[in-house]
Amino acid sequence: MCGIVGYVGTEEAKDIIIDGLRRLEYRGYDSAGIAIVNDGSIIVRKHVGEIINLEKLIGNEKISGNIGIGHTRWATHGAPSDLNSHPHLNEANSIAIVHNGIVENYIELKAMLKEKHNVSFKTETDSEVIAMLIGAYYEGDLKEALLKAVSIIRGAYAIAAVAADNPNELVAHRKDAPLIVGIGKGCNFVASDFSALVKHTDDVYLLENDDTVILTRDSIKILDANEKQVQRTLMHIGWSAEAAEKGGHEHFMMKEILEQPAVVKETIKRRLNEDGIIEFDEIKIGLNELKSFDKIYIVACGTAYHAGLIGRYAIENMVKIPVEVDVASEFRYRNPLVDEKTLFIAISQSGETSDTLAAIKEAKGKGARILSIINVVGSSVARESDDVIYTWAGPEIAVASTKAFITQIVCLHMLSLYMGRLVGTISNRHYEEFISEMLKMPEKIDEVLANRSEIEEYAKDLYSREKVFYIGRGLDSAVCLEGSLKLKEISYINSFAIAAGELKHGTIALMDPDTIVIALATQDKLYEKMLSNIQEVKSRRAHVITITKDKNRSISDSSDETIYIPDCLDELTPLLSVVPLQLFAYYVAKERECNIDKPKNLAKSVTVE
Ligand code: M6R
Repeated sequence: MCGIVGYVGTEEAKDIIIDGLRRLEYRGYDSAGIAIVNDGSIIVRKHVGEIINLEKLIGNEKISGNIGIGHTRWATHGAPSDLNSHPHLNEANSIAIVHNGIVENYIELKAMLKEKHNVSFKTETDSEVIAMLIGAYYEGDLKEALLKAVSIIRGAYAIAAVAADNPNELVAHRKDAPLIVGIGKGCNFVASDFSALVKHTDDVYLLENDDTVILTRDSIKILDANEKQVQRTLMHIGWSAEAAEKGGHEHFMMKEILEQPAVVKETIKRRLNEDGIIEFDEIKIGLNELKSFDKIYIVACGTAYHAGLIGRYAIENMVKIPVEVDVASEFRYRNPLVDEKTLFIAISQSGETSDTLAAIKEAKGKGARILSIINVVGSSVARESDDVIYTWAGPEIAVASTKAFITQIVCLHMLSLYMGRLVGTISNRHYEEFISEMLKMPEKIDEVLANRSEIEEYAKDLYSREKVFYIGRGLDSAVCLEGSLKLKEISYINSFAIAAGELKHGTIALMDPDTIVIALATQDKLYEKMLSNIQEVKSRRAHVITITKDKNRSISDSSDETIYIPDCLDELTPLLSVVPLQLFAYYVAKERECNIDKPKNLAKSVTVE
């Protein structure tokens, strides 16, 4: 997914922009570039491949200037190449732009620009038309030219632009693509996501659709769609620069796994008042509206979908409303039965997943109330939602989602408790007991993490196997899906998760001595049933690793290895049982020398369908 950074201030723009681009690397990209206004002209340097290539290209070259823009590109129109990389220039090399999104009518705009303005295009991109359009309309006022350009562009875009003859002003605009404004001291920024700015500021304005912003080093002017000056909500993000660094860890993934006790604590703390009551200031749904919902959809992708499966159990148990959980890429193609009586819950770490966004639009169009659970403040999903619950997991950089998942589950539990209390479907006693158990979870996750060397040993023994099955029942089967996804995405092992009761309907045929079976047996009510399933695979000579509660010591006789998690409520076991699965995936991938934080073929935010 493309990334934008823009800076205007008193320091060297080049260094600040390249640092910002580095912090956006996790989103995935195939080329990078910068444009710096320097003494009446614009210096552009861009290179295909990693940012290091761009830095090598620049080498010791002095590119001085206090205003500039930068970009990491993920190719859509035109192959990844030096030429197709952003920034793009107009015909006279006097305007530079960076662009995220798509110009849908670029072919017709190209033809018009060639014919009427006699410009010659140098790249295969759709984005170059934006530079050419602004150049064609520019008469000394960059904002005016940008507004004229976007008035005839169709598509989705976040654009930042600078002009050679104005070293004091950076102009940007957004429509259906995220863009935030960072408020610095003696400097200001634009960026596609907050991670780029984490070193410089904690305060941002979230731009709305069709907003234009004019930045100088000491002023920020935001215009709405009617070109009227407006004040947008100031958000204090509260992420430290260290939170986005590896902090001595070999990989972000391990750092993020280890952060889970702290982020769970934070996610709970932010919503619990002094009397131990859950308050969701961010939810504006009243009692009557809540009572009017006859159905809830939870829709998400990948790991977030797995959190949704766990959320279904929580909400149905506490609120007694039927819940359906769907993968976002399927949802809108099955003409879902959504109306004004539907509460639609979207879950997304990034808030930029295009399938999830499309599903939200589908549900919104049919009258549903949209509530989202997301991690990245100001992201597109947040903007499309009526109510937003932030997970407060801090920046998640590794492609494999870990701490975001665990905080999504916490939010879903808190939401179901909150709704259950409001509509009266749970007793005060149950409510209080559940919260008191939840508050113990950070410490219990710590206990699981403390035993990680044991899991590392198992991984060292088993990393070369090519077939891994995850089996479980009830909530455990949702956690199995997550464990399996973690393993396949970072270690490239062919793994498969199945509800244990389904084994005998076909999959058991695959069991043999080369197979690893990771069996989750954490649900008290289903424990004996799981024991039978474990025996079934064991008797086919599969290698079985069981994860169960501390109290179930006798299970060790039926397994090759047993990993114990602290005793807790059945409903809360996913917060513990997923941790050994994350660790197993991590250590196996490490043994196999995989690129753990950036697995092949994957990006952190999936912004294409
Ligand atoms: O940002 P989102 O939560 O919407 O992303 C959804 C999936 O793309 C994501 O969870 C993906 O499956 C992860 N790589 C899993 O680790």
